[in-house]
Amino acid sequence: MDIKEQIDHNLIPQHVALIMDGNGRWAKQRGKDRIYGHENGVKAVRETLEAAGELKIPYITMYAFSTENWNRPKKEVDTLMELLVNTIRNETKELCDKGIRLHAIGNLKSLPEKCLLELKEAVKLTENNNKLNLIIALSYSARWEIVNAVKNILNDFINGNKPIENVDDKIFKKYLSTSDFPDPDLLIRTSGELRLSNFLLWQIAYSELYFTPVLWPDFNREHFFEAVAEYQKRERRFGKTGDF
Ligand code: FPP
Repeated sequence: MDIKEQIDHNLIPQHVALIMDGNGRWAKQRGKDRIYGHENGVKAVRETLEAAGELKIPYITMYAFSTENWNRPKKEVDTLMELLVNTIRNETKELCDKGIRLHAIGNLKSLPEKCLLELKEAVKLTENNNKLNLIIALSYSARWEIVNAVKNILNDFINGNKPIENVDDKIFKKYLSTSDFPDPDLLIRTSGELRLSNFLLWQIAYSELYFTPVLWPDFNREHFFEAVAEYQKRERRFGKTGDF
């Protein structure tokens, strides 16, 4: 049976987060520069969005550039930034045609000015789209986000004379860059690495984790459906027992 036919449309994850890993290794296997892998990763982004659209998944978050990625060789960082700017610019019309609204999370102030301007423009141009929310994590790390939230909570509570004891996880969530989005139901990481690499550490407390050996540039619609089908087999208990 076709993998898509195995999917139960009453059990669709509302938010899928993706760690797009393996571009460098994919390029190396072909004797090419790492950037060749990133360029080919764009096709996998399109396939993923197409598959998510077919399943009517309302939120997709993609880890495109981590805080730690700034430590890569300057040439790779510059070319990757350029690729991101060009992709965002070239795909804005397509995003609008498909009803995709773009959001960006991360330490955006650290991005090159040109990249930030293109990003802001694409976010603005897509703001009325309402089929799928695409959240791009750029210069993002979960520890940065959590520390930032703590600083802002302390500022607001101390300056506003509000008791710190009132801070609970609902209030904390409001200070995260993902405050407008539900927590991911499913997290997918490609390339066979079994770690979270500082991605959405607060938000994935109860997410189902799915690891695949497929390198990101090879990741396609069917792979996405396989991940969703596997997610649907899991019993999510959120810390309770399964007997209810
Ligand atoms: C990780 O592979 C991938 C990245 C750091 C960049 C991801 C960016 C894209 C797929 C470009 C397009 C994205 C959007 C959202 C427009 P790696 O370089 O760490 O691979 P390796 O682990 O094999 O070295």
